Amino acid sequence: MSSSSLLSVALEAAHAAGQLQRENLGSDLAVNEMLQYDIKLDLDVRCQTLITDIILKNFPDHAVLGEEGNAGNPDGTTQWIVDPIDGTVNFFYGIPHFCVSIGVKVNGELVAGVIYDPNQDETWAVEKGSAPTLNGKTIRTSSRTKISDAVVTCGFSKSEEAILASFERYKRISLAVKKTRMLGSAALALAYIACGRLDAYVEEQISEWDVAAGRLILEGAGGTFIEQPSRTHEGKMFIVATNGKIDMNPYL
Ligand code: IPD
Ligand code: CA
Repeated sequence: MSSSSLLSVALEAAHAAGQLQRENLGSDLAVNEMLQYDIKLDLDVRCQTLITDIILKNFPDHAVLGEEGNAGNPDGTTQWIVDPIDGTVNFFYGIPHFCVSIGVKVNGELVAGVIYDPNQDETWAVEKGSAPTLNGKTIRTSSRTKISDAVVTCGFSKSEEAILASFERYKRISLAVKKTRMLGSAALALAYIACGRLDAYVEEQISEWDVAAGRLILEGAGGTFIEQPSRTHEGKMFIVATNGKIDMNPYL
């Protein structure tokens, strides 16, 4: 099976879930779980079910690993890494900055990725070995090389230990850059670096579904993506993503 057939199913699924999100933005939303630093919506589950159905209708033997649970063949060598709504808190508060993120791995290697922002109707897409695109046009990261020119986004994750661990780093970064931003969607942060809107992104605790598609899009556009096991949460990752030119090391 070619990566372009994987990509076309990823696009179909991302657009279908994005449409459902557009229809529900601003409506009364059923909340499954209200946590101190996070919210789980029934719509997260509905979007993941919709995406899963489209994937498994096309590829019944594949595995689907999502923020809202797993489906399909757990031993499948092709895995779909799905974040049905990245930016759920934004969604709940009516802030139109969230997206669908779908990455595809074959034998452990990322081969395709789609990020869809239903608010701006923006689709980032990539197949391994080809240039990533935004609404069909090839993208590259920014050409900025100096930290003093950079706009850098930081995520503060969803736990007290991640928030506390991020404060000192945030201070160092804020003092060095042009501006910091905190936007609330990891996938869109990576997509924005890939197309030159942002220059770097750092987050203390992140999960694979947040970043799988964005990583492939970013690396194909000339960026770098570094992950390490999180020092504050077993099973999560500490990540640093850049435009490939700015050195974030002195500020981490
Ligand atoms: C979250 C967003 C947020 C990031 C969190 C993620 P969710 O994903 O990407 O920007 O700071 O670490 O968990 O819960 O909205 O899918
Ligand atoms: Ca997410």
